[in-house]
Amino acid sequence: MRIPRKMEHVHHALALGQSGEQGFSDIKFIPNCLPDTSVERISLQTLIGELSMSSPIIINAMTGGAPETADINRDLAIAARETGLAMAVGSQMSAIKHPEVEYSYRVVREVNQHGIVFGNLGSEATLEQAERAVDMLRADGLQIHLNVMQELIMPEGDRDFTGMLERIAGIAQHLGVPVVVKEVGFGMARESVAALLQAGVQAFDVGGAGGTNFAEIENARRSNPMIWLNDWGVKTAVTLLESLHAVEQYRNSGLGEAFIIGSGGIRSAWEACKALTLGASAVGMAGALLRTVRTEGVAALIEQINETHQELKLLMAALGARTIQDLWQRPIVISGETAHWCDVRGIS
Ligand code: FNR
Repeated sequence: MRIPRKMEHVHHALALGQSGEQGFSDIKFIPNCLPDTSVERISLQTLIGELSMSSPIIINAMTGGAPETADINRDLAIAARETGLAMAVGSQMSAIKHPEVEYSYRVVREVNQHGIVFGNLGSEATLEQAERAVDMLRADGLQIHLNVMQELIMPEGDRDFTGMLERIAGIAQHLGVPVVVKEVGFGMARESVAALLQAGVQAFDVGGAGGTNFAEIENARRSNPMIWLNDWGVKTAVTLLESLHAVEQYRNSGLGEAFIIGSGGIRSAWEACKALTLGASAVGMAGALLRTVRTEGVAALIEQINETHQELKLLMAALGARTIQDLWQRPIVISGETAHWCDVRGIS
């Protein structure tokens, strides 16, 4: 029997792991020997648009659409409820096309009635489909994913990418909840972020390379893999700096506020703290949480998240930052390939 694509993605994501390099080794913290704070006073509270979150960690979009995925979504939603994390479901297009699989997504809201839940669709979605995706979950926000290279490597993937920006603009301007445009692991360049800001998008999940690698996953599903594409994309540290450059220009021009979520290879408090210090308001974690829930179960996942919160507070204390916004003011040193990229691209 053929395993549905949704579970193939889960199996390949677990088998291939997240061994890539996200560029965070080029980002060096500068210790603060006089931090003037205490671990108890540190707040992990953060904002993405109008959404106030008690933790900067988001369980990022993964799954739904096949019976076994309902179990994964239920476990992730229990962990989100018990730890106060926001959570996104995987692409809901399969439920929009086949309402009989809606349950595999709706379970997230049933388990976690009051938590922050994001729906998820691709950029082919219409405004009406976006409204249905939000209604399905009583979602607090909608992620729209960008995954051009993944589609191109999939033999059955999309080949026509016309009209993406116009459709996203229509959704961002008319949907009643915040829209987050996210990459799935190839990263965003500042030109794309600037175009999306002009289109009315105010939140970006940069989804850089160095974590779950969808080129590698789709190549593992192909009979004739195009392995030279496995290192396509910009690393997470680089795409964060690219995106923040565009957001800062937008802020400085007085047009409004915008929010960045750092993701792609965030495995621990260490990478999360680096992404937040670079200027992200939150971080998305997918593969690292999937691995724990599938191999050790939901109790282990809750413990992992609680430990990550504690470790993040310890790091924030060592940097003298009481809030996530304080982290943005902390000095860092950017070296190596990431510094070179910034020079070439004129990012200060
Ligand atoms: C994903 N991801 C994803 N993203 C999305 O926007 N819609 C989706 O349906 C999926 N599906 C999906 C399935 C599986 C099994 C995984 C592991 C991931 C991408 C995910 O949200 C994230 O952007 C990338 O996985 C990179 O982050 P990590 O895994 O390195 O933390």
